[in-house]
Amino acid sequence: MTVKIFDTPEVQDFLNAVAGVDQSGGNDRAKQIVHRLVGDLFKLIDDFDVTEEEYWAGVNLLNALGSQTQFGLLSPGLGFDHFLDMRQDAIDAEAKRTGGTPRTIEGPLYVAGAPEAEGFARMDDGSDADGEVMWLTGQVRDVDGTPIPGAKVEIWHCNSKGGYSFFDPSQDEYNMRRTIYADSDGRYTARSIIPSGYGVPEGAPTDVVLKSLGRHGERPAHIHYFVSAPGHQHLTTQINLAGDPYTYDDFAFATREELVVPAERIDDPAEIAKRELDGPFSHVVFDVELAQTDAAELQVRHARPRAKEDDQDLASQLAGTAKV
Ligand SMILES: [Fe+2]
Repeated sequence: MTVKIFDTPEVQDFLNAVAGVDQSGGNDRAKQIVHRLVGDLFKLIDDFDVTEEEYWAGVNLLNALGSQTQFGLLSPGLGFDHFLDMRQDAIDAEAKRTGGTPRTIEGPLYVAGAPEAEGFARMDDGSDADGEVMWLTGQVRDVDGTPIPGAKVEIWHCNSKGGYSFFDPSQDEYNMRRTIYADSDGRYTARSIIPSGYGVPEGAPTDVVLKSLGRHGERPAHIHYFVSAPGHQHLTTQINLAGDPYTYDDFAFATREELVVPAERIDDPAEIAKRELDGPFSHVVFDVELAQTDAAELQVRHARPRAKEDDQDLASQLAGTAKV
């Protein structure tokens, strides 16, 4: 088929009407973005001769994604989360804010309000019988290597089945979610269990999209972090454990070389006794370097709907319904 109508005056006038360009009300930025977005899709339909069957299959898929709150899962899968990180990296570079531990995606499963501790916290409730004990520790420093006492280290990860507390109702509230304030030497330590990798549910709408691209929906075992301190740039990051089959093949594109960390198996009785553990454990060390900044807006995480961030806010409530 050779029918191309996008550039005709009729379609261009129609596009302006769709985007409310001729209306006095509304929001100018919304109009500009909708005009571009709808226009690009109209052109795509023209260029690829998208059939009516294909178009309505797409609408149906969007409905399925929305009804199962899976856009937060599809978003990293289609690389939007990593693309936003690449843009933030470029913005930092342009502003000469360089150095520090690299950022990587937050994902949709943070829950605000985790219990707080000073220096050390046990993160798991001990109920995960398949979990291998993890001793997770590190130092928070500035880019010159000076420790940052009192730095706020928020950590969250999944259990041995790939489930996150709150979203997985079988787990206790805030299981494997803690906020640890670094000690006088900038150090934090957590006792928890080694998380499992996990994948997009088989047959879910996100899985349908990925399979149509010949891709899988698997993530390696990983641990999420927010790290912040006054006078320093807030860091959103995560570590991927080395040796996982998907360490370098993460469907969410969160892997960065500097963020791949080994879990070292320790069976020395003296080390076990020092930590008052019952047997061998895995030792994971993740030191964090924060870049300095005077800009207040860079010292806090950016706004986004997050579970329990604001119980009065509908967007936060909806974020709490994400399927995993
Ligand atoms: Fe995760």
